[in-house]
Amino acid sequence: MQIIDTSQFKLGMIDCVRGLLIRPKGILAADESFPTIAKRFASVGLPNSEEARRRYREMLLATGGLDEFISGVIMFDETARQANSDGTPFIHLLEQNGIIPGIKVDAGLLPIGSSDVENVTSGFDGLPGRLREYVQMGLRFAKWRSTFRIGPGLPSDFVVDANAIGLAQYASFCQNAGLVPIVEPEVLLDGDHSLADSKRVIIHVLTEVVRRLEQANVRLDLTIVKTSMATRGSTNKVENQESVGAATARVLSETLPPAIGGVVFLSGGMSELEATRNFNEFSQSGSYPWPVSFSFGRALQNSALKRWATDPSRFEEARTELLHRARMNSLARVGDWSPEEDSAGEGRTRKF
Ligand code: 13P
Repeated sequence: MQIIDTSQFKLGMIDCVRGLLIRPKGILAADESFPTIAKRFASVGLPNSEEARRRYREMLLATGGLDEFISGVIMFDETARQANSDGTPFIHLLEQNGIIPGIKVDAGLLPIGSSDVENVTSGFDGLPGRLREYVQMGLRFAKWRSTFRIGPGLPSDFVVDANAIGLAQYASFCQNAGLVPIVEPEVLLDGDHSLADSKRVIIHVLTEVVRRLEQANVRLDLTIVKTSMATRGSTNKVENQESVGAATARVLSETLPPAIGGVVFLSGGMSELEATRNFNEFSQSGSYPWPVSFSFGRALQNSALKRWATDPSRFEEARTELLHRARMNSLARVGDWSPEEDSAGEGRTRKF
C-alpha cells in the first residue's frame, strides 16, 4: 500500500486558509453550474455556449488588479479546464496574479420526497478520485453547497441530518486529498419567514454541521464555513426588527467554535448594495474569533454581467464594475464602506 505523506498537505492547507482569508480581501464565487449560468445569461439576453462562458470567465478572471481585493476564485469544472485567449489556463493565470484557484465539487441538488421543496446534495460518485485530479491540476480549495428552506415544518430533520453528514463527509475527503474545504450550508432567502425564523434555522443548521464535522474528525482550523446572513425571507414585507449585520453577528458568535479556520458570506439573492451594506454592518457589530470575509457570486458579478451583455467584445467596462464591487466589499470587510463612496463609483461607471 502506498504511504502518503500528509504533513505536506497540512502545511499547504494552512497556507491556503491564511491566503484566502487575508484582510481585506474576499473570494469571488464564479462557479455557476451549466443550468445556473444559462439562467444568468438568459436574464441579460446573452446566448449561452461553451465559448461564451469561456469569454465571460476570461472577462472576470483576467481583470487587472483583481488581486488587490480578491484572494481566491471558486470555479466550475468546465472553467478550471479552460484557458485565456492567449492560451494560459485559467488556473495558471490566477496563480500568476496571486489569486488562489478553487473549485466547486458538488454535483448539484436532488429533490427529496415527491415535491421540489427540499434537496440533498449529490456528487459523491468518484469524489476522492476527482479531488486527487483537481490537486494535480493545481486547485487548492473546494466548495460543496447544500440548501435548507425555511417554512412550516422546514427544514425537515431528515434534510438537516442528511446534508450535515454530506458536508462533513465531503470536508473529510477534501482534507485527505490536501484541499481546503469550504462547507456551505445555505439557508435560503426564499419565503415569507421572519428574521427570528432565519436566526433560529441558521443556528440549528450550523450547530448540526459543526457536530458532524467534529464526528468525522475534520480539522476545523483547516475548514472555512460559508453561511447565509440572518434576514427575513424575500417575500416578507415586514421590516427586520434588528439590523441584519447585528443579528448575523449574534447568530455566528453563539454557534461557531473559535477553532473554525474562517467564515465567509454568500449573497443568496440579496442585491449588490444590500449584501455590501449588511456585511459592513456585520463588520461593525463586533470582533470575532475567526476571520470573516465575503464569498459572493451574484453580489460581485451582477453589474459586470449586465455591462458585459451590452457588448461582449468589450471587457474593460465590465471589469470596472467587477473591481468596484470587489473594492466596496473589501471596504465592508473592515467596516469602512459608505453608501456615498459606493454610489460615487457607480455614477462613474454606470451608463447603461
Ligand atoms: P451568491 O453570492 O450568488 O449566493 O453565490 C455564492 C455561492 O457560492 C452560491 O453557492
